[in-house]
Amino acid sequence: MKIILAITGASGVIYGIRLLEEIKNEEVYLIISKNAEKIIEYETNYSLNDLKAFAKEFYREDEIDSKLASGSFIHDAMIICPCSLKTMACIANGIALNLITRAAICCLKEGRKLIVVPRETPLDLMSLENMVRLKRAGAIVLPAMPAFYYKPIKIEDLVNYIVGKILEQLNINHSLYRRYLDEEI
Ligand SMILES: Cc1cc2nc3c(=O)[nH]c(=O)nc-3n(C[C@H](O)[C@H](O)[C@H](O)COP(=O)(O)O)c2cc1C
Repeated sequence: MKIILAITGASGVIYGIRLLEEIKNEEVYLIISKNAEKIIEYETNYSLNDLKAFAKEFYREDEIDSKLASGSFIHDAMIICPCSLKTMACIANGIALNLITRAAICCLKEGRKLIVVPRETPLDLMSLENMVRLKRAGAIVLPAMPAFYYKPIKIEDLVNYIVGKILEQLNINHSLYRRYLDEEI
């Protein structure tokens, strides 16, 4: 599978990192925003080089002349995880500010799968409306909202739940959390 994964500067960059680890055997084109770089340093022990090692190709947000900025770059899905409200606002309003927003807008214009994973609470009206706009435009809006029915114990369990939800949207099998109707482990 050919996947564009973008990590932006919202809290919860670990969601994107865990997802990257899970899909490392796919063909992953990784874009990390400048603000995400700061948050990765702030919230995790991962370096940029650690993350680059999991991807086939790595891009910075200002590489607007790269192939990912073109609708003719054919891929299976783009995921923005976590997706800052700023990045979400740009996409929802057609503002191709950088490589991430441009690639996402291309995704929508070409009818490809776009999954955005916002993380913020509470939500302002503009962001709620932006989510609706994205949904109407064909994106999958998958907020980072952990559940508790599978009795998570560690932070990793909460992270894995969201990553599992994203993998399900990609039709990738996983055993990252126990589904509601599955037998108790
Ligand atoms: C420590 C920290 C945590 C942040 N957490 C969030 C967040 O959870 N959600 C969000 O939408 N923005 C968050 N922000 C604000 C974004 O980083 C900011 O809007 C930035 O412009 C996003 O840029 P980007 O989307 O290009 O990465 C946070 C900023 C900092 C410094």
